[in-house]
Amino acid sequence: MRQTAERLRLTGKRISVVPTMGYLHEGHLSLIRIAKKKSDVTITTLFVNPTQFGPNEDFSHYPRSFERDLSLAHSAGTDYLFAPEASQMYPTGYSTYVNVEGVADVLEGKSRPGHFRGVATVVTKLLNLTKPHVAVFGQKDAQQVAVIRRLVRDLNIDVEVLVVPIVREPDGLAMSSRNTYLNAEQRRQATVLYQALVLAEQRIKQGVRECSKIIDEMKSLITANSSGQIDYISIADNNSLQELAALQLRQSVLVSLAVKFGTTRLIDNIVLLV
Ligand code: PAF
Repeated sequence: MRQTAERLRLTGKRISVVPTMGYLHEGHLSLIRIAKKKSDVTITTLFVNPTQFGPNEDFSHYPRSFERDLSLAHSAGTDYLFAPEASQMYPTGYSTYVNVEGVADVLEGKSRPGHFRGVATVVTKLLNLTKPHVAVFGQKDAQQVAVIRRLVRDLNIDVEVLVVPIVREPDGLAMSSRNTYLNAEQRRQATVLYQALVLAEQRIKQGVRECSKIIDEMKSLITANSSGQIDYISIADNNSLQELAALQLRQSVLVSLAVKFGTTRLIDNIVLLV
């Protein structure tokens, strides 16, 4: 992969990369389409990265379908699909990890210890392997984007990070490979996540400034309309990701949540300007 990328660079091509864990859906395809517009050559990476899954998480049953991904990535316009094996990415004796501090320690980082160490490590490796000018990520994983931006800045990595809006199902559910785990009833109930985010948006527009009040209303909506178990609901500064007690005018805030339906943990978010 590195030799191919180097050859492309030497012929003056602008390279984009779309890192994925596969089981592609419309959200991923929108990243690939935008990557294609921003470059001459688009590389999609497909790697279910073991180091970003906790011991009790879904690494072994994460959905995988190489042929399907190959054809979808191709139809969206990708030029290369880079799908390494875990033994190639992490050969015996592998011992180097990338730790982003601060922004990786809250929210998802708190609920999933070690997750962002795995993400930061594999993204660093994928950037070194594909040598892109631009790397495209989805806003769905808002904290991942913040971690990658910090990583790129702190390690002086020469790449532009491009973030693409969340793609939603017609009923508002954010697209995710993990939605395939939901049974019909859980799938129906999962629409409450986006409804809770819209409720937060409405309350903020109506002038509510006390974050705990908004979060309580979101909690009530979720518990009244689903059997989902709330992991967290957060209203944080969109840059530092530090939780806020009260909102300031013209502040950019990230309203985010993680809710479990059975064993399936879903996340979603919305960015708002107060
Ligand atoms: O967002 C994902 O699918 C993964 O976290 C990523 C960025 C491909 C790293 O494994």
